[in-house]
Amino acid sequence: MRLQLGVLASGNGSNLQAIIDAIEAGKLNADIHVVLSDKPEAYALARAEKHKIPCLPMHPSNYQTREDFDSAMAELLEDFNVDFLVLAGYMRIVTKELLKKFRKRVINIHPALLPSFPGLHGQRQAVEYGVKYSGCTVHFVDEGLDSGPIIAQRVVPVLDDDTEETLAARILEQEHQVLPEVLQWISEGRVHVDGRKVTIDK
Ligand code: GAR
Repeated sequence: MRLQLGVLASGNGSNLQAIIDAIEAGKLNADIHVVLSDKPEAYALARAEKHKIPCLPMHPSNYQTREDFDSAMAELLEDFNVDFLVLAGYMRIVTKELLKKFRKRVINIHPALLPSFPGLHGQRQAVEYGVKYSGCTVHFVDEGLDSGPIIAQRVVPVLDDDTEETLAARILEQEHQVLPEVLQWISEGRVHVDGRKVTIDK
């Protein structure tokens, strides 16, 4: 099934770019219907424009509550016929207003091996804690903070002289591979969720 994607991004959008590149290379059976950003200045929006993908800046401060903001987002995503949502460097916690319309159809990429180091600055948390390995996690999104069922993880070493930036760069390389790969598995109907357990058909 060809996925009809919506992508939410708050920043540089290199993960969005990885999805775009995978689609253009014929490695991912999907279309991106719209890119939304809660940060009007996000470079992710420029990337979308470059590839003629509809994109819109959103303004959380125009809404009274996080739920109001998310229900406006959910309506827009439905208007653009989005059937699967990707949080690609999206720095807000989503509420049930978004999740109830996209139940089990939202994934996020996080720059740490969950359940370690959820929340902001996963790479900095890993360097400061002194772990020897970190990586990234693609997971289904639930109401919690980076707490939904885990679909895939990639591991990288943490080197003695790593800074937050050098570790982030090593992790990002893995993010760019695993996120389109997971989306392709989903498009092939190979991903199954049973409670917290996710299995992938071979
Ligand atoms: C990525 O490392 C992503 O995992 C992280 O933000 C970066 C966005 O990069 N996401 C989070 O920390 C979510 N809590 P990008 O804008 O270049 O894709």
